Amino acid sequence: MCFRPFIKWVGGKKGLISQLMPLLPKNFNNYFEPFVGGGALFFELYSLGVLEGKKVYLFDINEELINTYQVIKHFPSKLLDELKKFQQKHSKEFYYEVREWDRDNDFKNIDKVLRAARFIYLNKTCFNGLYRVNKKGFFNVPIGSYKSPKIYDEKLIMSASYALKDANIEVADFSRVLEVAKENDFIYFDPPYYPLSDTSNFTSYTDLVFLEDEQKRLYQVFKELDKKGCFVMESNSDTEFIKNLYQEYKIEIVYMHRFINSKKEGRGKISEVVIKNYQ
Ligand SMILES: C[S@@+](CC[C@H](N)C(=O)[O-])C[C@H]1O[C@@H](n2cnc3c(N)ncnc32)[C@H](O)[C@@H]1O
Repeated sequence: MCFRPFIKWVGGKKGLISQLMPLLPKNFNNYFEPFVGGGALFFELYSLGVLEGKKVYLFDINEELINTYQVIKHFPSKLLDELKKFQQKHSKEFYYEVREWDRDNDFKNIDKVLRAARFIYLNKTCFNGLYRVNKKGFFNVPIGSYKSPKIYDEKLIMSASYALKDANIEVADFSRVLEVAKENDFIYFDPPYYPLSDTSNFTSYTDLVFLEDEQKRLYQVFKELDKKGCFVMESNSDTEFIKNLYQEYKIEIVYMHRFINSKKEGRGKISEVVIKNYQ
């Protein structure tokens, strides 16, 4: 079986896994990813057998994303049936028709399998796999320029379902981890990054923005978990603001390859920080 994210996700950690692996604690009890997104680290750890015998908790504030995880966990075959229909109907007109569904007051009452199929379909066909909603909470990303996008991979969805079979998956704010995590548990935080500069494009994943106040709130949660005796690791941007905030912790630098970079001096490599409360 092949275990990897079933969606493209901004800030996905696929390209950083080999640098993150040596930074993990050697031993830990249960595993938490409170900003799960595409779940790249979760799927990697699962495929390596690191999570065997441990409880796994995956949270995210994005309801449509978490609904999709739950549907993949419980109803993968029904989801595949729906995805086949989306694949057959795909066209520019169909994309915009499906994108409009969330403008309907009854959207949240639509069958959850169909909602998950819509989420995956939009993710695979929209511009760069972005997830962006407007002030009213309506998905507003334009169609991407793929000739014949592959909307689903049956094996990937079935293996994701298998990997998720015992996972606790919740729509939750990251602070929920404080209610569940105990001593020796491992928490990996991968929040929306603090922006590199005032002018850098900031992607809002949901209608909530994640700037100074949210970063400081996350720091408080990090500290609380540290006091409880948990192992905590966090990815964030390599900025003075973040390095100052976490100055009492161990900060490692890792490098992410960026393919979209108009500035020559960037040379496609961007440094990021990994903050840890353990050696
Ligand atoms: C950088 S992405 C995570 C990427 C993920 N590690 C991956 O490999 O794809 C950040 C995630 O945080 C979620 N998020 C934003 N604010 C949140 C909050 N207050 N609580 C929990 N999740 C939140 C977003 O919906 C998004 O999925």
